[in-house]
Amino acid sequence: MKDRYQVKVEQIKQVTPQIKAFTLSSETAVDPFGAGAHLTLHLPMGDRQYSLINNPLEMTNDYQIAVKKVSANGGSHYLHEHLEVGDSVLVSGPDNYFPVHLEAQHVIFFAAGIGITPFLSMMPYLSTLGKTFELHYAVKNVESCPFYEELLKYTEQVFFYSGSREEKKKQVREALENRKIGTHVYVCGPETFMEMVVDTTRELRFPSRVVHEERFRPAAKIRNPKPFRVTVNGGDELLVKENESLLERLLDEGYPVSYACRMGICGSCEVTVCGGEVIHSDTFLTEKEKENKMLSCVSRGVGEIAINVVETNSM
Ligand code: FES
Repeated sequence: MKDRYQVKVEQIKQVTPQIKAFTLSSETAVDPFGAGAHLTLHLPMGDRQYSLINNPLEMTNDYQIAVKKVSANGGSHYLHEHLEVGDSVLVSGPDNYFPVHLEAQHVIFFAAGIGITPFLSMMPYLSTLGKTFELHYAVKNVESCPFYEELLKYTEQVFFYSGSREEKKKQVREALENRKIGTHVYVCGPETFMEMVVDTTRELRFPSRVVHEERFRPAAKIRNPKPFRVTVNGGDELLVKENESLLERLLDEGYPVSYACRMGICGSCEVTVCGGEVIHSDTFLTEKEKENKMLSCVSRGVGEIAINVVETNSM
């Protein structure tokens, strides 16, 4: 389990009628984090992840998050209605499953609604590093959208969309057409919006490795998991029991498999599948990638499978 620690609510700011920004301060120096990182809040109703909106290059002892109230009794309701300045909150992290890839020749961000939050840390970060980017932001109403004032700093690079779904689809397509090789695309927002952007990148044949989605939703768990056998790198034969993951088994055996989320959403624990049938249970790999890859933290073999594990450096 990750280390948990207490932070204090330093400031609460009403950003829009539904969105509040919270500044959480730590008594000790905060861990460095990259743009796109998130903090996990351990709340009475369960764990919730929120993107950090600070510029990671301007480290203070504060973490800043922005939360939209989306239900009458969930985590966002608790933060909006019960949390006050001076309260303590148990947190862990930051973790980053949505990092900025600095090798990108150009970056296009697509956000809808509160999905703007990870880009609030990425934009100043890329600006400071002299990298080029643009933001396409789908909102109900431009002047009353969250963080409008902050976004005005980037007038040349920010494009607002506020039309119908069909209009947005057309604008997304136009934003993605005829881009130079090496352009990376990041998307965050409601599921339907993310699908629209990702589908368009597929239609325009963007390689999946340059398309990055922010998802906090863990993959659906495989029901009644069964044991299976694995041949690794053509040598070792391992048994993965019903109550353990392939990732856990590989790590126990000393294989250098990277991992981060353990929820099937970050892609770190990918292994190559050389033979056998796999039940995939992640939200990261494309259908094409699933033909010869699996994410070892959540996906399982059926009967016997063969895999290759190569050392990666993303741990
Ligand atoms: S560790 Fe993140 S997908 Fe497996």
